[in-house]
Amino acid sequence: MEAEPIEFLWRRYEEPLDRARMALAKFVGARAKDLVFVPNATSAVNAVVRSLELRPGDELLTASHDYNACRNVLVEAARRAGAKMVVADVPFPVRTPEDIVDAILRSVTRRTRLAMIDHVSSHTALIFPIEQIIRELQERGVDTLVDGAHAPGMVPLDIKQLNPAYYTGNLHKWVCAPKGAAFLWAREDKQDGLQPAVISHGNNQLRPGYTRFQDRFDWAGTLDPSAKFSVPDAIDWMGKLLPGGWRELRQRNHELAVKARKILCQCLGTEPLCPEDMLGSIATVRLPEKFQGRPLKGRFELEQVQLYKQFGIEVPFLRIGSPPARFIRVSAQLYNTIDEYYYLAEALGRID
Ligand SMILES: Cc1ncc(COP(=O)(O)O)c(C=O)c1O
Repeated sequence: MEAEPIEFLWRRYEEPLDRARMALAKFVGARAKDLVFVPNATSAVNAVVRSLELRPGDELLTASHDYNACRNVLVEAARRAGAKMVVADVPFPVRTPEDIVDAILRSVTRRTRLAMIDHVSSHTALIFPIEQIIRELQERGVDTLVDGAHAPGMVPLDIKQLNPAYYTGNLHKWVCAPKGAAFLWAREDKQDGLQPAVISHGNNQLRPGYTRFQDRFDWAGTLDPSAKFSVPDAIDWMGKLLPGGWRELRQRNHELAVKARKILCQCLGTEPLCPEDMLGSIATVRLPEKFQGRPLKGRFELEQVQLYKQFGIEVPFLRIGSPPARFIRVSAQLYNTIDEYYYLAEALGRID
């Protein structure tokens, strides 16, 4: 790229791009023509939501477990259009997947234009029953934007089968591609009105053999495309780490997350917050009373920084609900071992 930028970024750009798109399409169960790369899920949510032509009184629906950055996109779009934000109050702890479906459907009205729903929620670490949610919303005439930031590589994906209006996923999380690798899938009937977060040449320079959707998204100004071009290798490499491939990798990570949660709940004396089969490879655990009721001082959670400095542990401390209770969220990837969660439990006992 640096030796011959024009040859690489202009004349030969589509070769690695198409290779990456094909590999991704296979991995997520989609047609390549419905897929574009974006730098991250936030960027995809911006593209979708800011492409909507909202009218005053329209409603944008999200769930209380959503991701703050993505919620902000809805809030801003609603503010500009005089539309209304509706937040479905999903309980936490959650007893069954139906609790989530019911909370979302209760919040739908005739004015709901779009529902942004997580596939795997970030703070609460739940796998949402996304197939049922998409279907039920569609039956009510509501388009779903699935925020699947955490899903690729953590849960099996067949986007064509799910068939929402829009789906975005990150490849720089559980597929371990370099940062800046994510995708947006749009159903064919939704592609026409969709503009990228960054408009560039593609709006009037069309390439033979590509959809207008791809033309608009494939080039977003000069950027290092290494992250997206690395996606086929990331998918391939991760898929070869265990004899059973991706299926075994996901299963192994899920089982480790379940065990990690068990260990932490036992050691901390707190209750699990959802059934095991609603967990992927992340799990949120409520912190014991000694950590509750402490307001946030400054920008960072003191205990999180203390664990990092004193014990070399990086674990997010979270505040969820109103009034907020305090939690930690653990992750399980191939390089993690069971001993690390015992070590975390012990370290939590030693800090104050
Ligand atoms: C549910 C969810 N949505 C969106 C994002 C944002 O991802 P990115 O920062 O890559 O845009 C995250 C990141 O953790 C997430 O968990």
